Amino acid sequence: MTLAKILLTFGATALLFVTGCAKQAETDSDVIKIGQFASLTGGIASFGQSSDAGTTLAIEEINAAGGVLGKQIELITEDDRSTAGEPANVVRKLIHRDKVSAVLGQVASSMSIEAAPICQEAGIPMITPASTNPEVTEKGDFIFRICFIDPFQGKVMAKFAKENLGASKSAILTDVKQDYSVGLTKYFKETFEEIGGEVVAEQSFSSGDTDFKAQLTTIKAADPEVIFVPAYYTEAALIALQARELGIELPLCGGDGWDSPKLFEIAGKAVDGCYFSNHYSQEDPSEAVQDFIAKYKAKHNAVPDAMAALGYDSAYVLVDAIKRAGSTEPEALRDAIATTSGYKGVTGTITLDENRNASKPAVVLKIAGGKASYVATVAP
Ligand code: PHE
Repeated sequence: MTLAKILLTFGATALLFVTGCAKQAETDSDVIKIGQFASLTGGIASFGQSSDAGTTLAIEEINAAGGVLGKQIELITEDDRSTAGEPANVVRKLIHRDKVSAVLGQVASSMSIEAAPICQEAGIPMITPASTNPEVTEKGDFIFRICFIDPFQGKVMAKFAKENLGASKSAILTDVKQDYSVGLTKYFKETFEEIGGEVVAEQSFSSGDTDFKAQLTTIKAADPEVIFVPAYYTEAALIALQARELGIELPLCGGDGWDSPKLFEIAGKAVDGCYFSNHYSQEDPSEAVQDFIAKYKAKHNAVPDAMAALGYDSAYVLVDAIKRAGSTEPEALRDAIATTSGYKGVTGTITLDENRNASKPAVVLKIAGGKASYVATVAP
């Protein structure tokens, strides 16, 4: 069963409530439908819930300010349950049943890679807020992303490990079930070796595994100075806990997949002294970031993580393109998204390149006391 969540907020809703008027049912042409697919439940639910919370906030703001092209936006959200096979199903539903004009999603690269060919074939623009594996946008000219890609992210963390942490020997622990993890492993290794480092152990696991002691024991014996763990938050947290149990006190490094409040809930002190790359820092004093955090906190009573910020930016980038296209006609909309340039988002300035990727800086965060603090910004 899929959970379809429909968000349709009207600027005038509050007024209608106080005057007690019943709102007329909207006809199709009165609204612009945008589809969203996300992992609202299952193994990576934290990602989907956050990106959805960010997207929802943006669409509510846009509708309250009058919508786009004189119409309100109806956001139709489908839960893919963090399950392979579901992204394809739910995106087909959004396109063929709901007739959405564009699709937002997903966070996890494997999920976006599965859905992208369906959007491409149907000629419906898709914007992923957060999938960083290069393959996603290679699926065709209707597929876009508003975040950086993993060849860059891998390089950032390889250089950080070597140059900032002074590690010349690294181990890598890869989730072979995730395109994200496999890709990031490759790019980290390439750069780490290029700049004179040595990868002394490469171990792997599968998403959902809970026991990493065998891999960590092998890694410990290889005597690295840092361990790169390009995993999602649940496995990353368990790996950190078990590494500490085995007496491995080395810093672990990760990528954006670590970014979830759940990482700290599960791992506690085990991730203190660890580092990961990310799309934005909550400590960024800029007005754009602090305004967004305040609005998000007021609505969701939580501090937004990177997926929330990227979900928010993805909705605004799409609506900006609809405005510039002057229509939701698929090819006009595709061309307008493709020419997104200098859009000032919460996660930085978004300009799409000829491969439909955003070239943006990454931040490196250090974990201490259950909190990730800003260390550095690395430009592309
Ligand atoms: N970049 C990850 C992927 O492609 C997803 C992710 C983005 C996770 C941002 C956390 C924060 O799979």
